[in-house]
Amino acid sequence: MLLEVRNLSVYYYTLSGVVKGAEGVSFNVEEGEWITFVGESGSGKSTVAHAVMNLVPSPGKVVSGEVIFEGKDILKLSKEELRQIRGKEMTMVFQDPMTSLDPLRTIGDQMIEAMTVHGVPEDEARERAKELLQRVNLPPDRLDYYPHQLSGGQRQRVSIAIAMAFRPKLLIADEPTTALDVIVQDSIMDLLDEMKAEGTSIYFVTHDISLAVERSDRIAVMYAGKLVELGTVEQIVENPLHPYTKALIEAVPDLWSERPVKAIPGYPPDLRNPPKGCRFHPRCPLAKAGICDAEEPELREVERYHFVACHFPGGAKDE
Ligand SMILES: Nc1ncnc2c1ncn2[C@@H]1O[C@H](COP(=O)(O)OP(=O)(O)OP(=O)(O)O)[C@@H](O)[C@H]1O
Ligand SMILES: [Mg+2]
Repeated sequence: MLLEVRNLSVYYYTLSGVVKGAEGVSFNVEEGEWITFVGESGSGKSTVAHAVMNLVPSPGKVVSGEVIFEGKDILKLSKEELRQIRGKEMTMVFQDPMTSLDPLRTIGDQMIEAMTVHGVPEDEARERAKELLQRVNLPPDRLDYYPHQLSGGQRQRVSIAIAMAFRPKLLIADEPTTALDVIVQDSIMDLLDEMKAEGTSIYFVTHDISLAVERSDRIAVMYAGKLVELGTVEQIVENPLHPYTKALIEAVPDLWSERPVKAIPGYPPDLRNPPKGCRFHPRCPLAKAGICDAEEPELREVERYHFVACHFPGGAKDE
């Protein structure tokens, strides 16, 4: 096992209250797998991804939990130890590459620095930077460009080229294609697939479950700061057990059928004051008074590899 996240909770201490961005989240990432996190906006996907990198931004704090990566708790490492791991063993690609690229420095400088900080000699780093650009289908003269001279898709290719520099064990990609058109989106996904083929585990984040289906091995579904379902793609798509997962799937438009698209009624809760019991109960068609609004369902394994946090998984109404 490459990564083990145990009971992770992250709160944001804002002026208007404590936002429980993620609560009690546990999962593993295996070597060489592609796991995709899905859920509506505000469900805690980025919060968990940042915590795995030990990069939760202020006013956020990890209030409990462990993030064991190759046997070490990332949350307990010193700055220097983190520096050695980040960008080399585990790396992250963001929705907007402008947040990770420096607008005032050339692509080449930034790619080379990403390697020299880990001890690669500069001339070797320059050669490798050219090769990496080619791998992501950019001509080597782009080394002399500044980020703003590239398109959004090209900038994202540069971030992936940087991520590829060391064949990381884990790549976290947080909505890396959201701002891009479908064709470019697909080519970025292909690059992630190539990294996977070389042994990198892909930790992908999206609010679009249809993006998850084709390439992932497993899907993790988040709702209101909680992990509510986890399973293989087949289990999640063919036999979703959480009513929220079902609703997410039914909300995907299907070009080839007459099936109506069903939006999920209601809104995600305010995470300063999440609902008691199951956080989904106010929106859930199956919610039962006295149970769903009172007791918080634990995430449990109901069949091999398939975990769900629901009192009535699959809609079973047995008492
Ligand atoms: N810097 C912050 N300060 C305060 N609250 C935050 C901050 N970042 C996130 N939150 C809150 O934490 C909760 C989880 O947010 P998060 O960004 O993890 O969701 P997400 O699933 O990544 O959503 P999206 O799909 O919109 O990216 C939300 O209620 C959000 O408002
Ligand atoms: Mg996010």
